Amino acid sequence: MAVGILLVGGFGTRLMPLTKNSPKPMLTVAGLPVTEHQLAMAKRAGITTIVLATSYLSEVFTPYFGDGSRWGMKIMYAVETKPLGTGGAIRNAAKLLPTDQSVVVFNGDVLSSHNLSQQIKEHELNKADVTLHLTAVDDARPYGCVPTDSDGRVTAFLEKMENPITNTINAGCYVFKPSVIETIPLDEVISVERQVFPELVANHGKVFGFIDDSYWLDIGTPKALLKGSIDLVTGAADASALTPDLVHTRTGDSLIMKGAHVDPGAVIDKGSCISHGAVIADGAHISGSIIEAGASIGRDCAIVDSFVAAGAIIENSAQISAAFVTNSEIISIPQ
Ligand code: GDD
Ligand code: MG
Repeated sequence: MAVGILLVGGFGTRLMPLTKNSPKPMLTVAGLPVTEHQLAMAKRAGITTIVLATSYLSEVFTPYFGDGSRWGMKIMYAVETKPLGTGGAIRNAAKLLPTDQSVVVFNGDVLSSHNLSQQIKEHELNKADVTLHLTAVDDARPYGCVPTDSDGRVTAFLEKMENPITNTINAGCYVFKPSVIETIPLDEVISVERQVFPELVANHGKVFGFIDDSYWLDIGTPKALLKGSIDLVTGAADASALTPDLVHTRTGDSLIMKGAHVDPGAVIDKGSCISHGAVIADGAHISGSIIEAGASIGRDCAIVDSFVAAGAIIENSAQISAAFVTNSEIISIPQ
């Protein structure tokens, strides 16, 4: 048995203006908040107790997730009045968890279909201090670069280096021995990537890599957010959060959630999703886009490769391409 911590306190700077009112993990991909997809992934691996480590816009999570019973989980909240960094956040959240079970920590902006049960199993068999999910990417520069030896032991942790020495990176899902978390000082700003992991490796801690190259994506940039949603809709990424009680129609090229109103004369394609309460009028064409809850798209609009935020209203015949649309602004997405 393992318990979980979801790190959901970052500012989501690269996704402004969408993250002005919504923390990054609460943005919609494939009809549901990113966090909800992650909870389904955690639950599949047997995790039913989880702490959301929140800071920025912490108040947005509680009304949506409550005590977790809707998902058959126990969800708790640890709120940092000022962001404590990833390490400080883990230490703060772990206060709410039992100390006799492995603790799985998730970055809150990652979609992953890796075999988490196996990661936990290997961690426990190895009696490791920490076991990091690692994956290969083309360009390792924006990530934590993590070389391993032939036994799978991590030999260095190099956060965001200019000339990466390997393309194997930290995929943002860690299994911790609880006693290792207790060594992190309380109420201090600490980074696991820049302090805890490099120090543990330098001090010969048992840090293992779990290499799994299944579907993986950090949705922290505008293009990645749209790609993640399309991948969930089309089935490239595991979408077990999309249970039949939530979905109206899913074709493999489009997803319409229950409670959305889509006129029969509208076309929804290229992996687009339409959330609960959104209204799509006759003649509209939604392509490769995310339409959040309660947004309204007028007649004969064309919305291409765009994110329309909750409650935004788009007038008849508007043509929008590669943009974020909120109820007050339209911002181009850098290509
Ligand atoms: N509670 C809390 N408090 N959460 C935080 C804080 C904080 O002070 N700072 C960041 N987080 C959360 C973010 O919300 C996000 O879910 C996660 O920690 C990682 O932060 P990002 O800002 O998304 O980091 P990154 O994408 O640049 O890099 C991280 O992820 C990569 C994989 O996607 C690092 O862990 C890299 O090593 C890794 O390769
Ligand atoms: Mg990230």
